[in-house]
Amino acid sequence: MTDDVLVVHGGTPLEGRIRVRGAKNLVSKAMVAALLGDSPSRLFDVPRIRDVEVVRGLLGLHGVKVTDGAEDGELVFDPANVESASTDQINVHAGSSRIPILFCGPLLHRLGHAFIPDLGGCHIGPRPIDFHLQALREFGATVDKTPEGLHLSAPNGLHGTKFALPYPSVGATEQVLLTAVMAEGVTELRNAAVEPEIIDLICILQKMGAIIKVHTDRVIEIQGVPKLHGYTHRPIPDRIEAASWAAAALATRGHVEVLGAQQADMMTFLNIFRSVGGEYEVTDARPPKLGDPGQEGGIRFWHPGGELNAVALETGVHPGFMTDWQQPLVVALTQARGLSIVHETVYEQRLGYTEALNTMGANIQVYRDCLGGTPCRFGRRNFKHSAVIAGPSKLHAADLVIPDLRAGFSHLIAALAAEGTSRVYGVDLINRGYEDFEAKLADLGAHTERP
Ligand code: EPZ
Repeated sequence: MTDDVLVVHGGTPLEGRIRVRGAKNLVSKAMVAALLGDSPSRLFDVPRIRDVEVVRGLLGLHGVKVTDGAEDGELVFDPANVESASTDQINVHAGSSRIPILFCGPLLHRLGHAFIPDLGGCHIGPRPIDFHLQALREFGATVDKTPEGLHLSAPNGLHGTKFALPYPSVGATEQVLLTAVMAEGVTELRNAAVEPEIIDLICILQKMGAIIKVHTDRVIEIQGVPKLHGYTHRPIPDRIEAASWAAAALATRGHVEVLGAQQADMMTFLNIFRSVGGEYEVTDARPPKLGDPGQEGGIRFWHPGGELNAVALETGVHPGFMTDWQQPLVVALTQARGLSIVHETVYEQRLGYTEALNTMGANIQVYRDCLGGTPCRFGRRNFKHSAVIAGPSKLHAADLVIPDLRAGFSHLIAALAAEGTSRVYGVDLINRGYEDFEAKLADLGAHTERP
């Protein structure tokens, strides 16, 4: 048990309004892209989260001057003096995030070599990087794996290549993009991931001068260019955080308006939310005009009263139901009448957190079979990756230990929905991806305290 604990007095519906800023899973990559420019870049709406601090630290070590801009949440990156950093300095960040792996291409372009520390991130399966390394080798990089981390070099430069991903991995697609934009010649990537965060990264690279065509059928073609300049960009809002607060509203029978949430990027979530019985209303943004202060866009989510419905859902790559939406929503599904089925097809070990929900009174069984959907990669590999949730269950307070970021938020929701006082240990992990979550909880009327 750690000292890092939040006491949650549950049973009160969350009510009020909060705001989400730039998507964690885009902002961190946009920061890496700034390394590729030969002039400063400017990124807005950057949330104050741990992953951003890690990337900021790594950029600083490599000579990128990172300063706060005039606007709250604005960061300015000056890559005029990119330089090598010592492995000891870089290793300070070992185990803290998955993002360092994306420094490979940009550092190889800027310095001809790169050192990548041991990666961190959430423990939700083995999380291999074989696709990344295979792609980098195809570009002409040599990769030397040592106990301290990865040493890469590109003695003959990086050259465009044809590469097909075995699975549309988000990170590996970003790796290829960040490497191909300045590699000599044309790169064709097949079976690419096309999540909105990736399309936004492509927008950034295009603003920097890159030539990238997104074809149909997950094919991306990149024409390498010899130099790129800085960008100015306002990122897409965090659709994982938005869905997490929506699920919290549903599970606590509350009503939460998420300013900044965007309908188009959340379509699949919104359909499931409505099928479960939740209500939502989209407010379009209106710019201020003379005599009209305008309004910020967002989505209002609420529990309309009465019972929720059981659903069957399967996580998948975009435009499917995001794997990161699964954990928060499952807490709401414990309150739905009947049997809900969740088939997790992106990560093989992302249902472990359901044990903690069961100690709170939920009735969730996990199975190795591919339940209620298309057979997936994990069906024959002995992973418990399908869950059946029988509801409704009355949740009661418990002592909980947070295992990873999204499961952690689901624990928090469960504690908020349960009657009584829970102690949630390891809550600082939530700061990796949820900006000011304690202040937001207070704004929504939650009763929490640090002992
Ligand atoms: C990104 O992880 C996100 N992280 C994850 O969010 C998100 O869950 C995931 O994409 C899927 O949307 C960031 O953007 C920082 P993947 P990433 O490569 O890129 C397998 C959160 O909580 N794979 O698309 O690491 C892998 O094991 C995090 O915000 C290989 O086998 O995910 C997984 O089964 C958690 N070899 C699948 O592909 C590889 O080399 C998808 O992973 C790479 C991936």
